[in-house]
Amino acid sequence: MRCSTYDSPLGTIWMIGTGERLMGLRFDAPIGDAQSITPGGFAEVRRWLDRYFAGRDPGFLPAMDPQGTPLQRRLWEVLRTIPYGHTTTYGALSEALLGGKKGAQAVGRALGCNPIALIIPCHRVIASDGSLSGYAYGAQRKRLLLCLEAGQSIQPPYFEKTEKEPMNQDITRKEEYEQRFPLFEKIRHDPSVEAYISEQNLAIKALGYTEHGHAHVGIVAERTRYILETLGEDDHTIDLALCAAWMHDMGNIINRVDHSQSGALMAFAILNRLEVPAQDIAPIICAIGNHDEGNGVPVSKISAALILADKSDVRRSRVQSQDRDRFDIHDRVNYSATGTDLKINREHKGIKLKLHIDTRYCDIGEYFEIFMERMRLCKRAANSLGLEFHLIINETSLI
Ligand SMILES: [Fe+2]
Ligand SMILES: [Fe+2]
Repeated sequence: MRCSTYDSPLGTIWMIGTGERLMGLRFDAPIGDAQSITPGGFAEVRRWLDRYFAGRDPGFLPAMDPQGTPLQRRLWEVLRTIPYGHTTTYGALSEALLGGKKGAQAVGRALGCNPIALIIPCHRVIASDGSLSGYAYGAQRKRLLLCLEAGQSIQPPYFEKTEKEPMNQDITRKEEYEQRFPLFEKIRHDPSVEAYISEQNLAIKALGYTEHGHAHVGIVAERTRYILETLGEDDHTIDLALCAAWMHDMGNIINRVDHSQSGALMAFAILNRLEVPAQDIAPIICAIGNHDEGNGVPVSKISAALILADKSDVRRSRVQSQDRDRFDIHDRVNYSATGTDLKINREHKGIKLKLHIDTRYCDIGEYFEIFMERMRLCKRAANSLGLEFHLIINETSLI
């Protein structure tokens, strides 16, 4: 039996098998009775994983020998028929396997025993209401795998285990969020919102723009929460702000031009369908409609927090282009940003955006070329919250 590891954007993957025949593949933990870790090995599996994490359907299957009961083996077979980029439900799976929906729970249990993650794609099985439901390696990993298959980029730091992006670790904070921010939890798990966010990012990627998908809105939501919570706003206000942050870029699905206004109208339709009262819809759509530097104005606390959170999301993993030779200025600036930190000072008088830019990929002049207008809007947003805005790049104070 041999064991080997693969560094994926979603954590270390462990492979086990005999010769080149794969028997187990899992995230994070060493597998079973492997005697030692062999460097290299499983060349076909690595080739499969390289293609998969490059955002492509690998188009072939490496040699595998997954062990299991007869029912489990049949399940592995059925799972392999779910095409890349598609999903099925527990109910549909039990229908196909057991001829009835009653076995959905048994199917769920069997899925948890899948010895070869990814290649036997149990992550493509979701609940019938469109929610992600369980996954042996965490709901967030499942979400990111489905995002990857939907054409979104998922390079680090999307899955870093830091406190900076806790919104991306929804398992640990799920209960707290359900209690404190009930509308946000509803919006976040609404299948239509989920689809619009994914689809607009595909459209934006086709235009050559940086990532605007679930990773972006997750970071923006988390920073919006941080700003308002630090400034002592109540949970209801934060709940509405989180909804605005989560849906703020949906309008890109209609057109990049005026996406803040079209996004606000889309959010209105969704919130109205969910029978959210008008006095709660109003601040959400107002913030969405005012988040863009082209014509946005920090008209409320929610809107100001959203602007600061959105304009400060500069990071390498937003670059969606795979070809470094074809990077435009936005790609270069984002690719160069290796660290971002947004902090309100202890006295609540200033907010500091600290960036680390790797000047091998862009110079600070390029940053200002595309971010000047955004930084001006951040300054206005900070001032409207009673804060001074400070921009520090590579330890040098610039604003
Ligand atoms: Fe936007
Ligand atoms: Fe945005």
